[in-house]
Parts: sequence; structure tokens; C-alpha cells
Amino acid sequence: MTVYGSFPGARPRRLRTTPAMRRMVAETRLHPADLILPAFVREGVSEPVAISAMPGVVQHSLDSLRKAAVEAVSVGVSGIMLFGVPEDAKKDALGTAGTDPDGILQVALRAVREEVGDDLVIMSDLCLDEFTDHGHCGVLDAQGRVDNDATLERYAEMAQVQADAGAHLLGTSGMMDGQVGVARDALDTIGKEDVGILAYAVKYSSAFYGPFREAVGSSLTGDRKTYQQDPANVRESMRELALDLEEGADMVMVKPAGPYLDVLAKVAAEVAVPVAAYQISGEYSMIEAAAEKGWIDRDKAILESLTGIKRAGAHMILTYWATEVARGL
Ligand code: PBG
Repeated sequence: MTVYGSFPGARPRRLRTTPAMRRMVAETRLHPADLILPAFVREGVSEPVAISAMPGVVQHSLDSLRKAAVEAVSVGVSGIMLFGVPEDAKKDALGTAGTDPDGILQVALRAVREEVGDDLVIMSDLCLDEFTDHGHCGVLDAQGRVDNDATLERYAEMAQVQADAGAHLLGTSGMMDGQVGVARDALDTIGKEDVGILAYAVKYSSAFYGPFREAVGSSLTGDRKTYQQDPANVRESMRELALDLEEGADMVMVKPAGPYLDVLAKVAAEVAVPVAAYQISGEYSMIEAAAEKGWIDRDKAILESLTGIKRAGAHMILTYWATEVARGL
């Protein structure tokens, strides 16, 4: 046998020899409090409805939503992000149901707040796409383009009704210019200075939102490329980020997460506010589908995907697996 001098001189493998050793030197740890559960609530159903493109995720009834919130609290999840799914007949061009105090999202916010109080950070999606009959995140002008400033007026009203209904944090996700500042002003005007804004500062126009369209029964034809960002860009994200902070964002979000870890790392290095990342519907469904086929180990893939997002710099992660993962940690 040939001995090649004294190489290798260094042996990094020593620190990987046993599970205890690997646990000790792990640089990234997931904690239940890192996790936020996105949840859909559908108007007019008494039982949860399965979402075929997201096996394991449902459109909740108000009852099952309350239970899901209690369960999330019991395993240490820190927050819940609510999305309303109105009856089709209630969708219109202005997304009126989004600002109706008795609209499904507001009803759901009140129900969850009543059920868990301040034990979860209760968040709501501040966006019109679930409520418009054309499926866009804003209102349209005469030419059918998304009208930024007319949309801001709708968002101001949404901010107020969501805060009134009990949200602790509003997730401004529509990618309209000025939306954070407008929501901040609207909240302050009605004495809701304590309600915060989780700004989707960096939100890309992504194919991975696909399954979400079924989850909220979206009516969208076409795409959101005139308001969501081009996946090719990162300098642009730094500009969006600076603007949202200037306008008063309390936390910022990068979305999607997995395909944008470089962006997430850059954002986390840049800002002094907490940074959230949203592991979106397509990221969820890809792992579930591959696991269903027996092509990957589901549980390991889930943990690896979340560990990667945290390692890249996320302080909080929105994930449809929040409750399951928190329970297992
Ligand atoms: C906008 C919104 C979307 C998602 C969260 N908020 C859809 C979109 O921007 O097209 C997607 C979340 C997911 O895919 O899991 N209301």
C-alpha cells in the first residue's frame, strides 16, 4: 500500500462522525417559532375542501380554521397568515368583498382572534386578487391595465377593515408602488398604530404560484408581470426593499423562497428588520408530488428545504408544513 506523505492533513469528517457530533456543530437550527402557517378559509362551507394541487392542504371552513389555529399554537408555531376565498358570486371588478367588514377574510380574522387571542401573530393577505372577478391584485383602468393609484385607495380601506377585524400584521402582497406607505397612513388614521406591516418587499412573478390559483379559486387569465418582479433581477429588489422600509415596513418578505436564496441572503444582510421568506405553493407541491411518486424522502426533503431557507438568512418562514414540522421538532 502506498502512503502519500501525511495527507490529508485536516480531517473535517471528524466533526461528522456521529449524530451527536453533527447536532453539536450544526450551524442552523429550525425552531417552531420560526414557522408561520398560511391558511385558506372558504366562505359558505361547513367542512374543509381539499385542494387537489396541494395534497394535505385544505380550504378551511370557519370551524376547521379555528381548530387549525389552536393546533398551531399547541405546537409552538408563531403566526398564521390568512387568505379568504369568497363565494364566486361575491367577486367583482373592485374586489368589494375584500373591504366588506363581513367579507370572509374579516370574518375569519375575527374568528381566529377570538379563538387564540394574542397566542399567535395573526396576519392577513392584503391584496385584491382573491376578491376580484378578473383575478388581478388591483383594480383595472379603462384599458384593462392594473391601475396603481386607484388600487392604493382600495388597499387603504382593506388595511383598515383587516385591522378592525383583529389582524396583528398586514401582509401587503400586491406589489403596487406606495402600498406600504398608504397602508401605514390608513392604519394610523384610525388609531391602529400598533398594527404592523409585513411588506412583501421582494415578490417575483413566479410560475411556482401555480397551485395557489386553485387554493383561492383564482379567476386570473394572463399574468402579473406588470407589477411582480422579473426573476432575472436582484438589484431591483434592493430598490423595492429600500422603498418599503422608507414607507414604514416593520418586517420584509422574500417570495418565493427556494429559487431565490441568493436574494434572501442579500436582503438579510442589508436590513435591520426581521426577514420572512415564503415557501410557496409550488415549492410545497413539488416535494409532495415527488414524494408521492416515491422519488424522494418526503420528511427529509421538507426539513432540508426549510433548513436551506433559514441558512440563507430567513428569520421566519411561511410554510404549509408549519404545524407538522413544528410538531416534529
Ligand atoms: C397574492 C398572493 C399570492 C400568493 C400569496 N399572496 C398569489 C400571487 O401573487 O400570484 C401565493 C402564495 C403561494 O403560492 O403559496 N394574494
